[in-house]
Amino acid sequence: MARITAGIGCSHIPVLGFAFDHRRTEEPIFKPAFDGFSWTRDWLREKATPDIVILVYNDHASAFDMKVIPTFAIGCGERFLPADEGFGPRPVPTVEGHPDLAWHIAQSLILDEFDMTIINEMEVDHGLTVPLSMMFGAVERWPVKVIPLAVNVVTYPPPSGNRCWALGEAIARAVENFPEDLDVQVWGTGGMSHQLQGPRAGLINPEWDNRFLDRLAGDTQELRTIPHIEYLRETGSEGIEMVMWLIMRGALGRSTRALHRHYHVPVSNTALGHIVLEPVDGSVPPSATLEGNDPTAQALI
Ligand code: DHB
Ligand code: FE
Repeated sequence: MARITAGIGCSHIPVLGFAFDHRRTEEPIFKPAFDGFSWTRDWLREKATPDIVILVYNDHASAFDMKVIPTFAIGCGERFLPADEGFGPRPVPTVEGHPDLAWHIAQSLILDEFDMTIINEMEVDHGLTVPLSMMFGAVERWPVKVIPLAVNVVTYPPPSGNRCWALGEAIARAVENFPEDLDVQVWGTGGMSHQLQGPRAGLINPEWDNRFLDRLAGDTQELRTIPHIEYLRETGSEGIEMVMWLIMRGALGRSTRALHRHYHVPVSNTALGHIVLEPVDGSVPPSATLEGNDPTAQALI
């Protein structure tokens, strides 16, 4: 049986991808940001490289634009190329998908009444590739398969935090039903506080961000109830990306433990946040839907 063994939260700051690609990680402005990932890189390499990462991120007008705006989309393709975001594609490996598990999750989520958009072909931008670089460093091939799970947090309205948490729980049910023996991690990316435009550009709120990190660990479900307006007011217009971390948190079940945590300012317009969580009690509530609990429907997957 497939199982979710850990969750990672991580900002996806484009300038860190730039610093990484241009070998500037040792410069004083970037070094403290990168240093906070060395624990995670060692932990992954030495004992926790999963088979598959379900990587929750948002596309920043690279694969989607005003023509198509899926609220939740899942990448079911064999591979995903790095997108050209204006300076050519990042010189990082092609992302290899896992179509079997991705299609299984898509079917299970849809039967669970989450209306996923299925994507077979798309390019992936900094939202997905920067976290891979932070976690795995410079490699010829990514050491994991990746299932991209894209969330609209760019065009209002994004999904609620509660909906995101519930989607994470549904992902956990789907993974648990997959018969192959696979080690799966769920990563949530984006955030933390940032506003890139308008009079409040540059807004950063370390107190709020750290309270958010505090509440990812343990069994509190308080983060589910934070309304959009609080993210906007307290963490800036782009702070809303943090709802994606709640998909990761929901997928870890009732209770978690933090293994590592890193918060650093300044490095960009964005507060850098990073956390590694393991499930302590990974149980999630059963599906509330008829099809989602129907063993016959599930067996067809
Ligand atoms: C920045 C951060 C983001 O999350 C993003 O998507 C784009 C830019 C920034 O820090 O500049
Ligand atoms: Fe972003």
